[in-house]
Amino acid sequence: MTQAAPSSARVRAGVLISGRGSNLAALIDAAKDPDYPAEIVVVLANAAGAGGLEIARNAGIAAIAIDHRPFKGDREAHEQAIDAALRGAGVELVALAGYMRIFTPWFVQAWRGRMINIHPSLLPHFPGVDTHARALAAGHDRHGCTVHWVTEGVDAGPIIGQAEAPILYGDTVETLAARVLTQEHRLYPQCLAQAARSLHSATQPFSSLAVEDRCRSS
Ligand code: GRF
Repeated sequence: MTQAAPSSARVRAGVLISGRGSNLAALIDAAKDPDYPAEIVVVLANAAGAGGLEIARNAGIAAIAIDHRPFKGDREAHEQAIDAALRGAGVELVALAGYMRIFTPWFVQAWRGRMINIHPSLLPHFPGVDTHARALAAGHDRHGCTVHWVTEGVDAGPIIGQAEAPILYGDTVETLAARVLTQEHRLYPQCLAQAARSLHSATQPFSSLAVEDRCRSS
């Protein structure tokens, strides 16, 4: 029988959210396995109403709202509060899961090589917002999601993994978003695990899933 790894052997992950937290829920589920290489030690949101905070609390994970509004546009001051909360929780790796704020270079540098993001498109297609509408308008026959390391460019860092979803005749933004989201929930736990393992590998600071390991929708 395999012995459960002691929790100190797992990478301490913090998740940043802004909304409902369905990707957070997928990560929490994956991390319930004692063999999963990361544990989620804190969840932070920039709004107290973010639904994902409740998901975290129900799972017994510290969940903290640090509202950006009292910082009155001083983005770096807000990020310093986020940074302090992450470091206070002993976080080694940050996973952005629907976190809707763009970071200053200061925060990106502070977590460089230790922060990943999930984006609902097959990057480099459609960085930014409204990805599903743009994929439909472009007439593509496939779409999907990407997990990547966070660098200064928006949705531009090295790719860890991608999962495809077909675009079907009659799709709307809603039907397509739901199909992609199912793939996100499969992909993100795999990629967080890969990122966590790479933190222990000095030779691979920005590791990727091998192409053959990437999720493909059937
Ligand atoms: C996901 O589609 C993610 O790719 C994007 O924001 C959405 C967050 O959804 N960055 P949820 O809060 O994880 O349900």
